[in-house]
Amino acid sequence: MIGLALPAPPPADDVVRLRPWRAADVPSLVLAYRDPLVQRFSWRTTPYSDADAQHDLAEHEQARRRGESLACALVDSHDEHRLLGGVALHDVRRDHGRASVGYWLAPGARGRGAATHGVRLLARWALDELGLARLELTCGPDNEASQRVAERCGFTREGVLRSHVPFQGGRRDSVLFSLLPGELR
Ligand SMILES: CC(C)(COP(=O)(O)OP(=O)(O)OC[C@H]1O[C@@H](n2cnc3c(N)ncnc32)[C@H](O)[C@@H]1OP(=O)(O)O)[C@@H](O)C(=O)NCCC(=O)NCCS
Repeated sequence: MIGLALPAPPPADDVVRLRPWRAADVPSLVLAYRDPLVQRFSWRTTPYSDADAQHDLAEHEQARRRGESLACALVDSHDEHRLLGGVALHDVRRDHGRASVGYWLAPGARGRGAATHGVRLLARWALDELGLARLELTCGPDNEASQRVAERCGFTREGVLRSHVPFQGGRRDSVLFSLLPGELR
């Protein structure tokens, strides 16, 4: 197996469900990426258009087929048309038993645990079904909400990666977290 795919039925709990991205999600995606908090912590350029979103979804699909990443829409578990945000496994290195986790929420979906629930579902699948031995999560040192999501899921803060990524015209440090099998909360 090279490509990555969510199981059927896809991971869900009483709050959220993961599902593949659809072309019909483009307008919600464009709206969500306009949010100042997403802009502040994101690499994405503004303005973000329908064409940019379509391009991103096509890239996600190609990377999924190559087995490099799996980007999932995070939707309400009772209404799969209600987009809450996104969660993704990226930099998947099955030969090394390792991948990274990323996530974001639309402004109206915050403060209810949706990201925490989504990361837990994705991490459970990655550890149990893909058999990965380590999940990594990096975020900006000033992204406190993101760090709280990591900690609630059981990730351990390992340290600061200096000048880690190109970011908004300069470079940015990242806080590195990891999660090993048996540590998911
Ligand atoms: C990072 C981000 C997803 C966090 O969103 P969030 O709403 O704080 O996260 P959750 O959905 O897990 O909700 C957690 C909050 O809901 C509360 N909550 C309510 N019910 C909850 C439940 N059942 N389970 C967990 N938390 C719950 C928690 O107390 C928490 O609030 P607190 O952090 O003030 O204590 C959001 O800030 C975001 O989209 N930021 C922009 C993009 C971004 O930074 N992405 C990460 C890049 S590394």
